[in-house]
Amino acid sequence: MAKTFHRRHFNQAIAASSLIGSTLGGTRLLAEENQNAESDQSNRRTAIGANVAATVHPIASNAAWKTYRDGGNAVDAAIAAALCLGVVDGHNSGLGGGCLMLIRTQGGAIHAIDGRETAPAAASEKMYLRNGKPVAELSQTGSLACAVPSQIAALKLAHDKLGTLQWASLFEPAIEAAENGYAIGIATHTAISSERENLSNYEASKAVLLKPDGSVPKIGEVLRQPDLAKTLKNIAKYGPGWFYAGDFAKAAIEYLDQYSGILTLQDFGNYKAIERTAVRTHYRGNQVIGFPAPSSGGIHIAQMLNMLETFDVANIYTNSKAEFFHLLAECMKRAFADRAHWLGDSDFVDVPKFLVDPLYAARLARQIRLDKASSNIAHGIEEANADKKHTTHLATADAKGNWVALTSTVNTTWGCKVMIPGTGVMLNNQMDDFSISPGVPNAFGLVGSANNAIAANKRPLSSMSPSIVLSEDGTPRLSCGAAGGPKIINATLQNIVRCIDLNQPIDTAIASARVHQQWRPDIVYHEPNLGGLRQPLNENGNGRNEVTEQLSKLGHPLKVSSSLAIAQGIQMISRGLLAATDPRTDGKAIAS
Ligand code: DON
Repeated sequence: MAKTFHRRHFNQAIAASSLIGSTLGGTRLLAEENQNAESDQSNRRTAIGANVAATVHPIASNAAWKTYRDGGNAVDAAIAAALCLGVVDGHNSGLGGGCLMLIRTQGGAIHAIDGRETAPAAASEKMYLRNGKPVAELSQTGSLACAVPSQIAALKLAHDKLGTLQWASLFEPAIEAAENGYAIGIATHTAISSERENLSNYEASKAVLLKPDGSVPKIGEVLRQPDLAKTLKNIAKYGPGWFYAGDFAKAAIEYLDQYSGILTLQDFGNYKAIERTAVRTHYRGNQVIGFPAPSSGGIHIAQMLNMLETFDVANIYTNSKAEFFHLLAECMKRAFADRAHWLGDSDFVDVPKFLVDPLYAARLARQIRLDKASSNIAHGIEEANADKKHTTHLATADAKGNWVALTSTVNTTWGCKVMIPGTGVMLNNQMDDFSISPGVPNAFGLVGSANNAIAANKRPLSSMSPSIVLSEDGTPRLSCGAAGGPKIINATLQNIVRCIDLNQPIDTAIASARVHQQWRPDIVYHEPNLGGLRQPLNENGNGRNEVTEQLSKLGHPLKVSSSLAIAQGIQMISRGLLAATDPRTDGKAIAS
């Protein structure tokens, strides 16, 4: 029987997380039976059971629950939930975007399914230059920002290999949500409000997401998406061919052409999800499985864990929380310097293997001083002997031992803001994840090198980091992942470190305040109440507590941020599987 406990407000959760050593040991949080997961739309932060799922929206989590009820496995549940999120959380992910899917099967196999968008064949390094100057707006909004959508190809590949229920049946909850509508929550309302102007430039985006007078629908109003329901029905019935070579591709090209788009029918027809070899690293007696290029997540999480393994992290945390966060920030800085220089689509550039070599990490770790922030960090080389939210992460795992960590995105809020009329599909703006020009930061402030330059049919570098941790004998222990651009990498790192080094349950790890350092700019972003200590407010809302005071003394420029990434996770515990959603948003964990 599934056990759950109610949502707590984020700040309470952060404060609580440092007090509650273990949710499972201490159980100071209330538990109750999850009698009717399917119809229950309330928010539940955790659930324990044999088959579990955690997503950012109750309707999507309930879709996973229904899938388990119908005999489906974790792969089926992840697909049904991802399709639903595209309807009820469409500013983050959907059919117009892409995803990375990491799967551990009941037989112990690992599948890393790369459903990353690709640049059109006509894309080039100069496509965002006007009068020789980069125009970032072009890679973020409108027809040129869009790469070939790829989510559905990845979901189909996963289903063909590992799904057990009928493909069409997995679409039912999503179709129902699109047809009958869902009550607009704070996330959708905020996403529409923040992009109202851009959305109103495109007829379908405007007609579907805004009211006839151009205003933003209120929280609680029902959003129906009949065109999206039709699209989902067609893909359910005819498969991805309808999307890539049929009516959808034709409608998309015809519409984008009106806005000088460069995508072609061939671009759509050529798209393929690719199976990659996962990144494997060892951390304190565990195997950490991460996503390889074109994601930077798996590589840099491995690199940072390798650095951290040379420190007694648990002891450092016990003695000084400031030193713990300082150490994390120093590892992040070095990893992101390497990311900016070395990373790109491995089908186009050589992503060096030394980045995940423990000897290289040890060399970087030796440069870290625990009493001082370092400056002038540059990317490493091999030695001869050496406040925006978009994207979504969901986690499922079943009684048989199938685990799925799936991160899906249209990139920034509502992608490129262009919805294809008659289809309900909002297109991504994943082209902005390329380095549009050397040294020019993208929407996340990330800079890149030639390795992540635009090229025809290339996949832009990603930070998405679906991760699965196994014991050395291969037993699954933990899965983590997040939304939040580059913050994904660091949030996932912190959740792994908290579970492994600090022995925290995944829900405590997820709720705890985080830090984020991405090399450029040289700032340690931190959430309020870092280290579980109340942060007094000054007139800028940015007072210091003992931990941030010490971080500042160590030499870190600091900036408070109300939320650094939204994470979901699953952990194997003695009573079954524990699924947890992030208290920073209104998600839900289910169990059956
Ligand atoms: O793949 C990436 O790294 C980005 N497109 C992810 C975007 C994201 O997480 C947005 N969330 N704030």
